[in-house]
Amino acid sequence: MGVDGSDRWQGEGQLRHHRQEDIEAAARALRAGGLVLLPTETVYGLGADAADPTAVAAIFAAKGRPRFNPLIAHVADLETAARIAVLDARALALAEAFWPGPLTLVAPVRDAAAVCDLARAGLDTVAVRVPGHPLSRAVLAAFGGAVVAPSANRSGRPSPTTFQDAFDETGDKAAVALDGGPCAVGLESTVVAVLDGPPRLLRPGAVTRAQLEAVVGPLAEAAGDAKRSPGRLALHYAPDAPVRINAAAPAAGEAFLAFGPWPDGEGVFNLSPSGDLTEAAANLFSFLRAADRIRPTAIAVAPIPDEGLGEAINDRLRRAAGFVG
Ligand code: TXA
Ligand code: MG
Repeated sequence: MGVDGSDRWQGEGQLRHHRQEDIEAAARALRAGGLVLLPTETVYGLGADAADPTAVAAIFAAKGRPRFNPLIAHVADLETAARIAVLDARALALAEAFWPGPLTLVAPVRDAAAVCDLARAGLDTVAVRVPGHPLSRAVLAAFGGAVVAPSANRSGRPSPTTFQDAFDETGDKAAVALDGGPCAVGLESTVVAVLDGPPRLLRPGAVTRAQLEAVVGPLAEAAGDAKRSPGRLALHYAPDAPVRINAAAPAAGEAFLAFGPWPDGEGVFNLSPSGDLTEAAANLFSFLRAADRIRPTAIAVAPIPDEGLGEAINDRLRRAAGFVG
């Protein structure tokens, strides 16, 4: 349940279209050391058995991902998460408020074999999350253990938010590919470290700073905490074309990601004509890809207000543009 008691993170009825056979085939592939393309409510993931170093190595190879960047362990429920990680009272409060949903908790590892060294990049902490998408939860429940699943893009590229985009990126590496429809959130999960001191926001996401602070009080600033957030490379989420952020208008030859009222035209992709941040987040990565396909000289992006979900959108845009956030 989401914090307001609704199923707002979950795609409506998406499970209906999936036969039990698909879910069991995915669980079997994971047990056999294979990779599975898995929908979540945030973005598509490329999953493997977290306890199997060979399977995890195949993920790093498929994505071309640097091995110092640790992965998120996805589990079916809070009980499984608590067996893997040491979740203190604050972590439990966040889990209760936002799971299943787009929140990842980084906590001390309790069962180091359940999420192998390679998956944790050798750290003594582990990232855990219970996704909200019913199809991924069904696969996790059928599998039983933890599934590490980075976003299914090749390293450095925008995360895939539709089955087709995911399949185009890494589908050829997957033993089973599950279509769960377009991702409702469209941005990766919020990552919060709950270690010593106040909880620390490592990656802004769909669960906003204000929502987190309503549960655990003021967060510590993550700036300069590179050791605890090893995956935050400068150039990330990047399409092929250069990205120019905070653009008032496109220059000749540029594609334009508008926000709010803007005249339609060639090369214009409006993230949200009504200026709605939730809609803009859901459209961001698929529009970056669509803009890229028209081969512009650059992709100009309108200013996005830095409040609520805008913090996560601007974080991704700064990285797509090559600036450290
Ligand atoms: O929404 C999501 O989180 C998606 C879907 C598929 O669940 N997954 C995702 O995974 O975005 P990935 O691998 O692209 O991003 C994982 C992030 C990275 O920034 C990584 O550095 C951080 O989580 N992370 C993982 N383990 C960590 C740890 N022990 N300490 C600090 N950061 C960690
Ligand atoms: Mg990623």
